[in-house]
Amino acid sequence: LFSEIITLQIGQCGNQIGAAFWETILQEHGINPEGAYVGKDHNQIERANVYFTEVQNSRYVPRVVGIDLEPGVLRAIREGKYGGLFRPESMVSGQSGAGNNWAKGFYTEGAELLDEVLDNLRHDVEACDLLSGFQLCHSIGGGTGSGMGSLLLQKIREEYPDRMLSTFTVLPSPNSSDTVVEPYNSVLSIHHLVENSDMTFCLDNQALNDICEHSLKIKSPSHSDLNNLVAQVMSGVTTSLRFPGQLNADLRKLAVNMVPFPRLHFMMSGIAPLTAAEAVNYRNITVPDLCQQMYTAKNMMVNADPSHGRYLTCATMFRGRVSLKECEDTTVNFADKHGSMFVQWIPNSTQIAVCNVPPIGLDMSATFIGNSTAIQDVFYRISEQFSKVFRRKAFLHWFTDEGMDEMEFTEAESNMNDLINEYKQYQDITVDEQYGYEGEYAEDNYEHSISE
Ligand code: GTP
Ligand code: MG
Repeated sequence: LFSEIITLQIGQCGNQIGAAFWETILQEHGINPEGAYVGKDHNQIERANVYFTEVQNSRYVPRVVGIDLEPGVLRAIREGKYGGLFRPESMVSGQSGAGNNWAKGFYTEGAELLDEVLDNLRHDVEACDLLSGFQLCHSIGGGTGSGMGSLLLQKIREEYPDRMLSTFTVLPSPNSSDTVVEPYNSVLSIHHLVENSDMTFCLDNQALNDICEHSLKIKSPSHSDLNNLVAQVMSGVTTSLRFPGQLNADLRKLAVNMVPFPRLHFMMSGIAPLTAAEAVNYRNITVPDLCQQMYTAKNMMVNADPSHGRYLTCATMFRGRVSLKECEDTTVNFADKHGSMFVQWIPNSTQIAVCNVPPIGLDMSATFIGNSTAIQDVFYRISEQFSKVFRRKAFLHWFTDEGMDEMEFTEAESNMNDLINEYKQYQDITVDEQYGYEGEYAEDNYEHSISE
């Protein structure tokens, strides 16, 4: 048995990306819409208990709690292709939504629904043999996923302080903004993510949209096009948790390798090859092709260029019939060629893993996870939008009407600005400063390695 993960999906976006994730991994694990294992490769099902609970008659059901302050999205999931697999009791909904208001999610409407959610969660936790932790799916532009999502993070942290808590977090795109208060909701949420999440995979709607338009040639992409990408990323970054292998085999190990400082836990990721849902590329792909694509800035799921910053840590996951040796050589070769993109004071910062089970419809694929200081660009973008409206205190009454204090906005803003500065600071550290010997130690080391 392997340590279990409980998924929480909250709000419209959270539930929709969650549904896309389940649809993808159910197929990868060979589980049909009735919950039966119909696959052929034992590796598919060996670790299925990480994400699925096996109930009577060998039925596998997703271990998930779905939450929304309005009923429509959850209803649609239950009526969907895999809807029968979700326990009806694990879907908790309110009646009215949070109307894009973080305060309604955190303080009023969301707080009212909280106990029911936590009861449900306890039920799942008690059924686990060895709970590894939680993964929360949400967007931070609206009210429920952002506000109630922040509340949930806080409560889970309190109730299960020794369990891992990771998030798949969708950031709003200023180009296709739903509402003017998105920057408020985002900054308030980021404030909580900094404090309470162990690892956050950032999914930037602006980047997802650009990838759909430019790389996949989809004209005016829909949410479901974006979510198709999100599902591939989620499948990719959870591969080492779901299939047999040594490296990063549970949430904690992954976080230990990826997060050198507790606050700097916001990951960017990329996948290769990039494929639209149906349009599989029939050209033969090679490991160098995958590497080349995976590291490209325009393939990153956040709108931040890694060459503007430095990688603190990276992980790559190759899938399919690939040779570990070739993957290692290609990755190391890349790191050598682009040395300046990596901080020098964390040696061997790139982890490489291989999983023989390929994703559906492909012979091989690769996923990249990077903890790069360049992610500050995303926070900077949000900060600028926030300041514009906050300077005039515009729209603030919607939040204070729900009992919020203006101070919370100021605190959240300065926490995010601190985060940006921390990224800057670590980006600029050189080896010499690290050792505090004005370079002597570094030089020593250099000679040492030459004489070897
Ligand atoms: P309320 O509806 O305000 O109660 O909160 P909510 O959490 O349901 O809001 P929602 O998830 O709709 O959040 C809005 C933000 O999420 C906007 O930035 C949308 O562009 C984005 N969004 C909504 N649905 C999806 C989706 O299915 N996929 C992606 N990628 N983004 C989405
Ligand atoms: Mg909603």
